Amino acid sequence: MEFKVEVYRFNPEFDDKPYYKDYVLEDFPGMTVLNALINIKSEIDGTLSFRRSCRSAICGSCAMKINGISKLACKTQVNPEIEKFGIIKIDPLSNMPIIRDLVVEQEGFFDKIKEIQPYLMGKSDVGEHVDDFHALKEGEKITQPVFYKSEFRNLTGNNDTPNCILCECCYSECGGVAGNKDYLGPAALAKLYRYSEDPRDNDKNGSRLVNGSKPNRMWDCVHCQACEEFCPKGISPVKSIVKLHEKAIKNSINFSNGAKHIISIAKSIGETGGLDEIKVALDTGGITGLINDLPMAFGAGLKGKIPPIRLKLIKDMEDIRLAYKILDLEEK
Ligand code: FES
Repeated sequence: MEFKVEVYRFNPEFDDKPYYKDYVLEDFPGMTVLNALINIKSEIDGTLSFRRSCRSAICGSCAMKINGISKLACKTQVNPEIEKFGIIKIDPLSNMPIIRDLVVEQEGFFDKIKEIQPYLMGKSDVGEHVDDFHALKEGEKITQPVFYKSEFRNLTGNNDTPNCILCECCYSECGGVAGNKDYLGPAALAKLYRYSEDPRDNDKNGSRLVNGSKPNRMWDCVHCQACEEFCPKGISPVKSIVKLHEKAIKNSINFSNGAKHIISIAKSIGETGGLDEIKVALDTGGITGLINDLPMAFGAGLKGKIPPIRLKLIKDMEDIRLAYKILDLEEK
């Protein structure tokens, strides 16, 4: 069967602007999108640029947008795509500058990974110049039972956060990065969680969590869930991010507006069963934040959304108090 591949092309040395180029190929059983691109490059058009290496969904190099979704080209078969869309349309990943054709600039992504201190901290990393050696001295290797019990392993059943191959599919689909280029993004934050849970790590005073609570980090996730939906390895970075939130609050790392916001919402519901929006805005951003929110509040008021000055207790408030009590006990 013949099928059409429409590929994004742009070479800044020669092209004023990007364009799409069509290629017609013959499929074969089990043909992947990466096979198709390799065929194009070796048989039809040697100028096409794209990354690839392992061809086994392990290295993460071949991530690109296939019919609008960030995927690994070596893991995506041609036939199901043709059945669904009638064509294979290929674009470079989103949220990253384009170097040429399907090749994107990865430096910004990896700089963000470096920001979360992606390594096991030794004692010198946390300011204890006792033994200036790596956290894992001989004889301190993690044992298998400890590894299998570790939180970082079991967030999504059999699919573990350490399985991340840094392919950038989640980063490309992330609504938080699309709206704020400085946001760290799901892969870096999932890695932050993975290290914060590692029993071998010496960061006992939570400097990673403090670092991760700064602006543009864990509290800037918009919870769009795209990272979970599009991860080719079945990992859920958003679940790690929620765990990071819980962990930061449990450790009283509450200086960020995101943490203050969550704490205030929980308090409001625990006290009245409703959301005291004025109090939540005040607790989150203080007087300055409240003043900054005035134009939005005014706009909402014009649409008839006026928060009550004083919330009444809801009916069945006792049930909510009971739920809080149970949750509180479970925490302890
Ligand atoms: S080539 Fe390595 S993941 Fe696709």
